[in-house]
Amino acid sequence: MSEEYKRSHVFGMDYGTGDFKYGPITIGEVPEVIESRGYFIERSSIMSRIMGVDREVVVGKDLPLFLESREDVAERLVYPMKNGIVERNDVRAWQVIKELTNYALQSFTLDDPDFKGFYVVASLAVVAPRYMYEQLFDIFGELNAEKMLVRAATIIPQPLAVAIAHKTPTCVVVESGHGNTQVCPISMYPIRNAVVALNRGGSAANTLTSEILKDAGYGDLAKEEKLVRRVKEQIGLLPKRLEDSIDYARRNPEKVKTEIRIEGTRIKIDLGEESWTRFLIGEYAFNPGHEIFQSYFKRGMPRPGDVKIGDTYFYGMTDLSEAIIEAVEKCSVELQPHLYSRIILSGGNFNWNAPKGLEGIAVTSDEKIRYMLKEKGIENVQAIVAREPTYSVWRGCIVYGYAVPYDFKWKWERMEGWLNYA
Ligand SMILES: Nc1ncnc2c1ncn2[C@@H]1O[C@H](COP(=O)(O)OP(=O)(O)OP(=O)(O)O)[C@@H](O)[C@H]1O
Ligand SMILES: [Mg+2]
Repeated sequence: MSEEYKRSHVFGMDYGTGDFKYGPITIGEVPEVIESRGYFIERSSIMSRIMGVDREVVVGKDLPLFLESREDVAERLVYPMKNGIVERNDVRAWQVIKELTNYALQSFTLDDPDFKGFYVVASLAVVAPRYMYEQLFDIFGELNAEKMLVRAATIIPQPLAVAIAHKTPTCVVVESGHGNTQVCPISMYPIRNAVVALNRGGSAANTLTSEILKDAGYGDLAKEEKLVRRVKEQIGLLPKRLEDSIDYARRNPEKVKTEIRIEGTRIKIDLGEESWTRFLIGEYAFNPGHEIFQSYFKRGMPRPGDVKIGDTYFYGMTDLSEAIIEAVEKCSVELQPHLYSRIILSGGNFNWNAPKGLEGIAVTSDEKIRYMLKEKGIENVQAIVAREPTYSVWRGCIVYGYAVPYDFKWKWERMEGWLNYA
């Protein structure tokens, strides 16, 4: 095998709690995305035999076609990860991971006689325990049974992938996806004992959006998770300072009013007088401890709680700047200013738009973080939002795979290099 072959067959995979992003180096800038979930079909049913479905688990774009309108859908639909972690003995969850991985590889496998398998770079949460690495490597091996799909594989932590994509050896990566947020200082390698993890991501903002929709009279829509997510992405705004933004909205209602239509349906959503609540959505993702949210908690909205998964604590309510400070302050004093001067925000939950005409009132994530840190007395902060933050982990996987020489062998002590299957 040659360096040249490797370079043209790098394949990135970002295992997210909500979405799985994957694709080979040749795909360009944007990977494929499917939901991280699998549906277990009742294989013994006569219909599935007649229809020629011989799989046990379905994943990917066709999954919705298999959903039966039955009550046990909830039980058959398996989301394998919680906060980026798959439990060691959760057999069905691992089956879904295997199926997702297979689906990704098969959809790009070439008939080309020169195809000798991909060089797979997979990315897991920085808090992922070692058994996840072992089980994933085993899965790659099992998938090779019929045809060589994975020639070699390596696994890197998501925040490191982001640092690699930005070619920044010293930084703090804040990776905020759907289900969780990882704050990870990096000095060449992730500083593991300084990592702060939150049990919160874009899904928390969905919860609040759902409450807002209920209050505005869209109770039926509020129950549909995917729709709520779309509404959040379209109407949610991130205020610089919440009080100022609410005040502005009260004085200039026409500036924040918005009406959206859901494509392919007759649904129209207009928050009317309550349009100022758009600012609550972004604020909640960054700072759920703001007193304004108390009334929602009192009315029964669930609070993001602290959880312990494996050996890791995930905090529910810590605000994002507090989490950054906590992580940085676990590092050496000499390093701290360098970390504050390179904060990289990555993950879908940092995609907040700052529409024209609302400058300074609705801001982007980097501006919000700078403001929050300044409020806590930290100056000289430099923060950037990764370019297309949802895909930066995947991009880092591709850059890493391209750069690591094909003959550099995997070492468990350092957790780097290629594990070979050929
Ligand atoms: N324009 C937007 N405004 C606000 N939020 C957005 C926007 N676009 C995407 N998001 C949110 O980003 C989240 C998905 O991010 P991402 O794909 O990084 O998560 P993930 O990798 O599946 O999860 P995790 O990293 O927690 O395991 C969703 O909650 C989604 O609603
Ligand atoms: Mg992710």
